[in-house]
Order: sequence, then structure tokens, then C-alpha cells
Amino acid sequence: MDQNIDELKELPFPSPEAGRSTLVALITKRNILALLEAVHKEMGNIFRIPLPGFKPVFLVGPEANKFVTVTNRNDLRWRSEGDPVTEVLREGLLVTDGAMHDNIRHTVNPALHKKLLEVYFERMLLRTNQVLGDWKNNQILDMLIEMRKIALLIIIDTLYHQDFTHELNTLWVDIKKLLAHISPGIWVIFPDVPRPGHRRSLKKLDDYMYKIIKERRNNPLPVNDLLGVLVNAEDFDDNLIRDQLMTIFIAGHDTSTATLAWALYLLASHPEILKKAQDEIDEVIGVEVPTFEAMSRLEYLDKIIREALRLYPPIHIGNRRAAKDLVFQNYRIPSGTRVVYSIYLTHRMEKYWPEPTRFNPERFNSENINKRPPYSYIPFGGGPRNCIGMAFAIIEAKLVLSCVLQKFDFDFPPGEFKKIHPHMGATLEPSPGVKLKISYRPFVTQK
Ligand code: HEM
Repeated sequence: MDQNIDELKELPFPSPEAGRSTLVALITKRNILALLEAVHKEMGNIFRIPLPGFKPVFLVGPEANKFVTVTNRNDLRWRSEGDPVTEVLREGLLVTDGAMHDNIRHTVNPALHKKLLEVYFERMLLRTNQVLGDWKNNQILDMLIEMRKIALLIIIDTLYHQDFTHELNTLWVDIKKLLAHISPGIWVIFPDVPRPGHRRSLKKLDDYMYKIIKERRNNPLPVNDLLGVLVNAEDFDDNLIRDQLMTIFIAGHDTSTATLAWALYLLASHPEILKKAQDEIDEVIGVEVPTFEAMSRLEYLDKIIREALRLYPPIHIGNRRAAKDLVFQNYRIPSGTRVVYSIYLTHRMEKYWPEPTRFNPERFNSENINKRPPYSYIPFGGGPRNCIGMAFAIIEAKLVLSCVLQKFDFDFPPGEFKKIHPHMGATLEPSPGVKLKISYRPFVTQK
């Protein structure tokens, strides 16, 4: 620390009621976003939340995001021992630090390189059509479920070269249990409270991961997918490979599920934007099969996805622990403090996002993008540990949405829209789901 210690300020707390309300909301509703918004408004961009035994500091805004993800990233650790995420991912890329992290990232990176996206695109298309092929005219479907099916089939097919169709049934409940286990809840405050009910599910998913590792070792394939890259990596044993497979499986499908479900929710509630997006798809793709090349020409759809990620960033916070005393804007952050950078609150700062709650894809018109400072839009995090699956996720979202919008119209069944609210699961997801009534667009019945 360069500053004189006497000049530094202590991290401020909001009123005790705010702390109590946060605690109650976290335990009963699993949603503290409204409270955080209120505290942010009252306190500004730096505040602590007084939870029992646990007083995280929230840092909000572009400067804070840069401080956490770039400038001080080496002194802010990702791994948190005893945390359910660490328990499940073990030594996965997402929960390791230092040289070990860098080595894993270096190994995993080639499998997510942009140049492979075109190869993955064909598998993404196949899996999307597999699910859409089951949709019936005038059916009511929960898009949170449908999009999860697509995202699971895609991540396993593209990166592990496996068909997950059978496992969608046999492992569905286990996947949901595991996601519930790692979602924020009472364990955040009372880590020692026993939380039974996930071990069997974890074991079943582990068995699946070890099975596909063994199969690949016995039958090497001439593909550069993630499983192949890991099996060929010299210093990766089966346990370390399992940890990466589990990490990418969870990080790579639950986020895309939430993104797609939110985008469909926003489109269904803004028919004029939906119409404009369908017009673009009709013009660029028409009734043809979507191509990789066409994706770059879906500019309006691209903005819709970016705006959905602004309003409902699936990863709405980044969680770290200070490894030494730090200083941010003259505030002292003692070593050991839980430091949280808030993507959600940054994305709703009026200063950068006028009428922040409005769904307005035009914010991403090129003339508007340049008006905002770097790190004011960070749905994929920032710095060298930003999302490794960003390009994959964007192409996947574009492809899935273009297939849905090309073939279907949709609307909320009566009373459904009002029920939907953000829920802090493993990601920020629409709860209780996004039920939509879908109908074939005219050209589908013509074909
Ligand atoms: C729309 C979808 C996605 C969103 C919004 C998203 C968001 C994020 C964010 C915000 C971070 C950084 C978190 C932090 O700073 O604490 C991150 C990291 C990560 N993401 Fe994603 N992600 C998405 C899709 C994916 C996909 C498809 C994959 C894998 C194929 C993936 C794998 C990862 C991994 C492994 C990390 C940790 C990287 C590291 O620590 O080096 N994500 N993601």
C-alpha cells in the first residue's frame, strides 16, 4: 500500500436494517438484487453488507470492475475453500489461482478458440433442431427447460463429442440438484449447516465424466474437442480432467440457458422488437438453414443478446477474497475481505445506461457504444480471467435464437408474464420459468 494508513477510510456500512433485510431476503427469497439496488442508491459505489460472520464489500462501476479484474487481480483470489462451488468443481479452472490456473487455462484455451466455432456450429445447429423438432403448434412450453435441453446437448456434443440425449432424462434431476447445491443460500452465512441431498447426484455426474474420459482414452478420436485436448495433455490425470469437464459443463450450459430464457422473455414482452428481429432473420436467412456466415450479418439480433445480457447478466457478481491489504479509492480493504464486483449493478447505472430498466437493443448501436467507458459493460467479466467461453456463448445464443425466431411466433399465456422474476440460482435466472405459447410461423407450415 502506497498511501499513508491514517489517510485511508474504513469501508462504509449501510443502516443495520439494510443488513437485516438482506439476510432475510437471501434466506427466504434467494434474491437480494432489489435490496442491493436500494443500498447502492443510498451508499454509492462502495459498501459493505453486514451479514453475520461475513461482511462482503461490494464494489460497483467501471473503475471497480477494472480494479478487481485487471489491476489487482493477482491479489484477489477466486478460490474459496469450503464453498460448495469449490467442493463440486475441485480443481476446475474457475476455482484455481496462480500458476495452476494459468496452466489449466493455457491447456483448455485451444478447444475454445474462435477458429473451432465454425466446426462447433454444425453440431449446435443439429442439437437445436433436435429440440425444436419436438415443439408442436400452439403448445405451451417452459423456455427455461427447453433452453437447458439445448444448452446441455450442445455443450456435451461440441466439447466432449458425446450424445447427451439419453442423459437428459437420466441425469436431469441430478443436474438440477447440483445447481441448487451451488446456488447462494443459507450456506453463504452459515457454511457449516449440513446440506444433504446432493452427494448421490454429484456421484452420478462424476461417474458420467469418468466414463467418457475412459472411453476417450480407449478410443482416441481425430477431433480437437476439449475432451481430446485434455486427454492428450501430459500433466492432466483423470481427476484433473474430470474437474475441467465438470467446470465447463456447469459454467458453459447454465449461463447459456439463462441468457436464452431471458432473451425469449424480453422478446415476448416486446412484440415490436421481436417483429424487427424476425424481419432481419427473414431477410438474412429466409427459409434456408442458418449458416455460420449468416450469423455475422444478424446485427440486430446481436444487439438483442447484448441488451439481454446487460439487463440480466447470468453471472451477476464476481466473488473474490483479498489475499493482502488493498486500497480502492482511498478505502482500506483488509486482507481476507470478501470482495464482490457487481456486474448487475454496473449494468444498471443511470450514468451509463439512461432509463436503465428499459429493454432497448439500440443502446448497442455503434454510435452509442463509444459513449460509454471501458468496463461499464462486462457480462463476461474482464481481464485475463474473463469468460473463456465468450465467443462460444455468443454464437450459440445467436444460432439458437435465430432458429426459434425463424420458425416460431410466441407469446405469454394469460397471467404468466407477471409471475416471472429474477432468481439467484447458480446463475441469475427467470423464475419460476418462462412459459410461452408457441405457434408455427407461416413458412413452416408451407414447407
Ligand atoms: C452467456 C453465457 C456466459 C456468460 C454470461 C458467462 C459469464 C462469465 C463471467 C462473468 C465470468 C467471469 C466471472 C468472474 O470474474 O468472477 C466467466 C468465467 C468463466 N466462464 Fe463464462 N459465461 C458464459 C458462458 C460460458 C461458456 C459457454 C463457457 C464454456 C464453454 C464458460 C466458461 C467459463 C469459465 C471456465 C470461466 C472461468 C475462466 C477463468 O477463470 O479463467 N462460460 N464467465
